[in-house]
This record gives sequence, structure tokens and C-alpha cells, in this order.
Amino acid sequence: MPSVSHRTQNLGTEHAFVVLAEVNKLIAEGRDIRSFAIGQPDFVTPGNIIEAAKRAMDAGHTGYTASAGIPELRRAVADYLLRSRDIGYDAEDITVANGAKPFILYTLMAVTDHGAGHEVLYPTPGFPIYESQIIACGAVPVPLPLVEREAFGFDLEVLKAKLNPRTRLLMLNSPHNPTGRTLTREELAAVADVLRDYPECWVFSDEVYSAMVHDGAFASIASLPGMAERTVLLDGASKSYAMTGWRLGYAANRALAPYFSSWMTNTDSCAGSITQWAGVEALTGPQEEHLRMMESFTRRRNLICEGLNTLEGLHTLRPGGAFYVWPNVSELCAMTGVDSGEALRKRWLYEANVAVLADSQFGTPVPGEGHHVRFSYATSEENIEQGLERLRKWIREAKG
Ligand SMILES: Cc1ncc(COP(=O)(O)O)c(C=O)c1O
Repeated sequence: MPSVSHRTQNLGTEHAFVVLAEVNKLIAEGRDIRSFAIGQPDFVTPGNIIEAAKRAMDAGHTGYTASAGIPELRRAVADYLLRSRDIGYDAEDITVANGAKPFILYTLMAVTDHGAGHEVLYPTPGFPIYESQIIACGAVPVPLPLVEREAFGFDLEVLKAKLNPRTRLLMLNSPHNPTGRTLTREELAAVADVLRDYPECWVFSDEVYSAMVHDGAFASIASLPGMAERTVLLDGASKSYAMTGWRLGYAANRALAPYFSSWMTNTDSCAGSITQWAGVEALTGPQEEHLRMMESFTRRRNLICEGLNTLEGLHTLRPGGAFYVWPNVSELCAMTGVDSGEALRKRWLYEANVAVLADSQFGTPVPGEGHHVRFSYATSEENIEQGLERLRKWIREAKG
């Protein structure tokens, strides 16, 4: 057989999909699993959005669109970014794609050159596709550790030490997957200050959970003076409107928009036309269902955090946003003779019928940080209560 490229053989993955396949296989075999593994809302898309998609089909919106997206959606996104973040973009600064994820690749492709020694700073633990794509693009991955003593923020001194003239991109994600940490305006202002000494460094601000903040206000680094020009602001419909399967994301940046559009022409041609019309309705239509979902996520966040903190050997911070919680399980691992987050994940799945993701699935665990697992609380309160009970029983039995 002819050979497969190293680039492709070395591609990373998003383990949520791998664990989901493992969990689904067990369910098909008759096992009753309480799953906290997948990061997607357990609601269906609001009815008004579904109706808008039907109307788009009936109106014959079934062909290609402009690569950057339909003007109506680009305008709706620009208006939304003004309302939600007080940033004044033109519709032409916005590019639409099939989900937020493609912009990770497009941004890396747009600001780094393969093999040129361009460094990219990215959070670890973090969304695993960042590292995978940095390597695939031939840039140099530079992990930025998120640490528990900073409530899973990063130490500004560490950021300063890692930045240098070769740094081409700083990737930020707030609210954060997997810790749920939100970066405050003050923290972002401190980062923006540091970046003034590095004019060649772009910022990639992954804000796909921006509409899912439980406490306080969401802040975008792009809203700080001078930052919109050098920041790729990324958001989308997947999480806010329970639209993961529709595939709709968008990026805002004036200088890079024509290049993103060109990447769209070179890959997908355009985002799905029906999905784009649904996106217009999502952003301009009634928001009650989104708000109801958020109320539910906040209730679940409170329930799971309180419950986890009553389990022996576990402790967790209260995440400020998204729908993830990242408890420290080091003590539990020691009590039960388990040597890693992954080993604990496996034992919970096979012995307690509870599915979570392990820290090793979000990049190389940070030395000295102990072991963690990720719970997604995009699941019912009943599932949360039952899952916690199963873990309580497992801990009682496992510690002997
Ligand atoms: C941090 C982060 N960025 C991007 C994405 C991708 O979102 P989309 O479904 O819009 O491609 C996800 C999805 O889980 C995510 O957690």
C-alpha cells in the first residue's frame, strides 16, 4: 500500500468522540450507563430555529452561498457582537463556516508557516484539537499550563516567560473546556498589556461558550482597546442554541476575513445554506428557550458541584461557565490504588457504569497538578443525582 503522510498519522483526536463510541457500544450491549462524557446540550434546537430552516428549504435556499456566508447572517453576527461585547464589526469582517472548529485550522494556516519555527501558545488542559492542528500545520506547540492555584487560570509571569518574537499566536478559551473557568476583563486586560510588546502575535479567542456564563458578565479580549485588529474572535451556534449537529460557527477579524473566505472556497465552498438561515433566526429571533436552557445549566452546575464535594477523595471548584466541571481526584486515586485520571475513568465506566473523560484527554497533564476528570453536566438533574450515587457507592467499595 502507498504510505500515509506523517502529518496525517500524527493527527490527534477529540477523545469525547472516542469515549462516546465506547459508551455507545456498552449501551448497545445492554449496560445502563450514566454519561457525563459528551459536551453538547441535551436539548433539541429551539422550535423557531427549526421552523426558519423549513422556511429556507421551502423558499428554495438550497444552493451554494458566498464562501464567507450569506450577507444576512454576517450582518446578524456583527449586530450580535455589538450587543453582546460592544465591539463594532462590519458584516464584511465576519466569516461563517460549518461549525466553529474549522477556524482553528484556518487561523493557524493564516498566521503560521509550516516549518518556519512559528510558536503557538495554547492552554493545557485544553480543547485537544488546538494541539493536534498546531502540529499538523507545522507550527511549534507551546503549552500554557492552567493551574488549580489560579482557579485554572494561567500565571501571567509564565505567559510572559513563554512569549518571544517567534510567537505568532496565543490561543485563549473562555469559558474554558474542560475546566469551566471564565477569564475576567481585568485578567484579559493584563494579557493585552503584555501583548503590546509582541506586535507579531495574533490572538485566537475561542468564545464558543460565551453565552453560557453562570456568574458575572462575559468578557472578550477583542473588546479591549487595540485588540480587535489582532484577535480572531470565534463563536458559533452549537452550544448556545443546542445546534451541534447543524454545524454553524463564525469568526470575526477584519484583516483575516478575506483569507478565511479563501480557505472556505478551498475546502467546504460554504457553510450549509439552510443552516445559515437557521442561524439568522437563532441570533435575531426570540431568546427565551436559550435562557431557559441556561437556567437549567446553572441549576445543574450547582447540583453537581455540591454533590461532588460531598464525595470522599474529590474536590471541585465551581466553574463560572460552559457546562463542565473538573474535580481534582488525586486523593481518591491514592485511596483506591489508581495511578491516573485515565485509570479512574476506566474503572468508573466498567465498575460503576459512569462515563467521564480523563485529564490525559485534554493534553499532557501539567506536572504537580495531580489527577482530574471532566464531567459534562449537559445531562438531566436525575442523571446527575443517580451518577453521583453510583460514584458514592463505588468509592465506599473501592477503598475497601
Ligand atoms: C472549546 C471549544 N472550541 C470549539 C468547539 C467546536 O465547536 P463547533 O461544534 O461549533 O465546531 C468546541 C466543541 O466542543 C469546544 O469545546
